[in-house]
Amino acid sequence: MEKGSGKPHRPRVCFLAGLCVFFWVFIFYFHFNVLSSRRTSNPPQQSLSIFSISINPRERQGVSKDSQLLAPHSSRSEPPPPPHESEPSSGAASAPPSKSDPCGGRYVYVHDLPPRFNDDMVRDCRKLSLWMDMCKFTTNAGLGPPLENSEGVFSDTGWYATSQFAVDVIFNNRMKQYECLTNDSSLAAAIFVPFYAGFDISRYLWGHNTSARDASSLDLVEWLMKRPEWSVMGGRDHFLVAGRITWDFRRQTDSDSDWGSKLLLLPAAKNMSMLVVESSPWNANDFAIPYPTYFHPANDADVFAWQDRMRKLERKHLFSFAGAPRPGSPNSIRGQIIEQCRSSKACKLLECGLGESKCRSPSSIMQMFQTSLFCLQPQGDSYTRRSAFDSIVAGCIPVFFHPGSAYVQYTWHLPRNFSAYSVFIPEDDIRKRNASIEERLKQVHPDDVKAMREQVISLIPRVVYADPQSKLKTLKDAFDVAVQAMIDKVMKLKRDVTDRREDKDFVEKNSWKYALLEGEQRAVGEHEWDPFFSEPKDGNADSGSSSAEAAKNSWKIEQRNQT
Ligand SMILES: *[C@@H]1O[C@H](CO)[C@@H](O)[C@H](O)[C@H]1NC(C)=O
Ligand SMILES: *[C@@H]1O[C@H](CO)[C@@H](O)[C@H](O)[C@H]1NC(C)=O
Ligand SMILES: *[C@@H]1O[C@H](CO)[C@@H](O)[C@H](O)[C@H]1NC(C)=O
Ligand SMILES: *[C@@H]1O[C@H](CO)[C@@H](O)[C@H](O)[C@H]1NC(C)=O
Ligand SMILES: *[C@@H]1O[C@H](CO)[C@@H](O)[C@H](O)[C@H]1NC(C)=O
Repeated sequence: MEKGSGKPHRPRVCFLAGLCVFFWVFIFYFHFNVLSSRRTSNPPQQSLSIFSISINPRERQGVSKDSQLLAPHSSRSEPPPPPHESEPSSGAASAPPSKSDPCGGRYVYVHDLPPRFNDDMVRDCRKLSLWMDMCKFTTNAGLGPPLENSEGVFSDTGWYATSQFAVDVIFNNRMKQYECLTNDSSLAAAIFVPFYAGFDISRYLWGHNTSARDASSLDLVEWLMKRPEWSVMGGRDHFLVAGRITWDFRRQTDSDSDWGSKLLLLPAAKNMSMLVVESSPWNANDFAIPYPTYFHPANDADVFAWQDRMRKLERKHLFSFAGAPRPGSPNSIRGQIIEQCRSSKACKLLECGLGESKCRSPSSIMQMFQTSLFCLQPQGDSYTRRSAFDSIVAGCIPVFFHPGSAYVQYTWHLPRNFSAYSVFIPEDDIRKRNASIEERLKQVHPDDVKAMREQVISLIPRVVYADPQSKLKTLKDAFDVAVQAMIDKVMKLKRDVTDRREDKDFVEKNSWKYALLEGEQRAVGEHEWDPFFSEPKDGNADSGSSSAEAAKNSWKIEQRNQT
């Protein structure tokens, strides 16, 4: 087994220093650029954050490519403000970073919520899940217990048995060390609400009536709307995080047999932004952020060392798949994928049955991904899976079968040009045309495979959550990217309010299209992915309601995910 490759080499350190100088020159450039063009569409902070996503010299090429590919998410349109709305002060909060205040325009104010909304849930961690002991997973600031590296699959430090539902607490702990916190909400570019929305609902999803499921959400919005910070923008500068899929918070009726809470449908929550691990393509108040992986680096060097190691690995499998079939879902292509994998010499399969299985062992999964060129990521019970991020961390090129599995979800974190880092095989090619995955993947030229893998590896810092007990220096992790995107979104909204720039044509059910717009684009039209997001017709359509239906099965995911 390949061993961890250790510290960065000397020439690289020199190069890094040189690059640092280069970087500061850019800061000055943007500083002056900022002063002269505060009203331009691309907030300078954004250019900055994109530029600094990675300083690893090895990746410079990938990064500059990235910066063209990553359109600012702020292009998402917002509903028009009512004419009577008091204008948010565009003073301190929108002032750009400057020498006297490098945090200008980046301050975040964190609401001091009563502990029943967060800390009490962690203290009462036994109630968080019927299916597993979440107390284990809330340790180490939410990273869970450290993973031993006995098989040499991980590195000796920075690896944890992290639950896929732990983002609530990881994000909040990362926020505690955000460098631009303020106690003066009038300075803040955005307001963070440290409510553990995912933990809250997971206590009541099974066997509780709708009033029990909605109680904390109603309690929370009542608390928030009484605060002076709320009235500034009607909560539209507020954001919160739930490490679960959006369908757990979109209950359409008050029938107990319907799934989840109605948090995201509350009028107050429609003004806020909720960051979730899977967002709704048809709604504008939720945004997808990466699932947590097992890797939580404590410093930049650990990331560079890991990236170097993923570049050098020998990958003996053309493709691989870890997952279970979905015999209960007639539309699922998982059965066909497993069949194809089983009958191909080029495919490695980790089938997840019920009970003990290697598919639940982080080291078996990561070892398989590390020895594969491509990793298949079909939908599970909902569009997305944590596994997509595990494969990126392993330097394995993800293969997606539905644009809802990543491309319309993680628009803050993944490049717009999906063919630069992934392969897309539309589900119907498998379902209806019995396309051979092996043949498709063999057609990718080895040079392209190499370039794509380099892209995937360059994404690693952006999709992992750094260890909240430590701090990365130059790299931006998934938290940094999300907070910057939120700030950009609120800044754009404030500009639009100030300029009374109305967006009357905004159609919420086209949210996924707005999320894909680039630069100054504001209008959406027909899209090649329309068939993937058609509206509910006969109940068989690939729609939100079927996703919500699927969420009911999510307890199976939880059971399967015990480590
Ligand atoms: C905000 O106030 C609290 C309590 O007074 C204090 O502990 C904290 O350090 C302050 N934070 C900032 C960013 O000033
Ligand atoms: C919902 O369940 C709670 C107990 O969890 C109970 O006290 C309450 O009366 C129930 N509400 C309704 C409307 O059934
Ligand atoms: C949502 O925002 C709009 C516009 O600022 C405001 O008029 C409305 O009152 C807000 N809703 C709530 C529930 O505060
Ligand atoms: C997207 O990436 C692919 C592969 O790197 C490249 O061939 C293509 O030109 C890119 N498309 C755009 C629009 O940049
Ligand atoms: C799908 O293709 C494989 C060969 O690639 C073949 O063995 C299998 O029978 C085909 N299945 C159907 C349903 O046509």
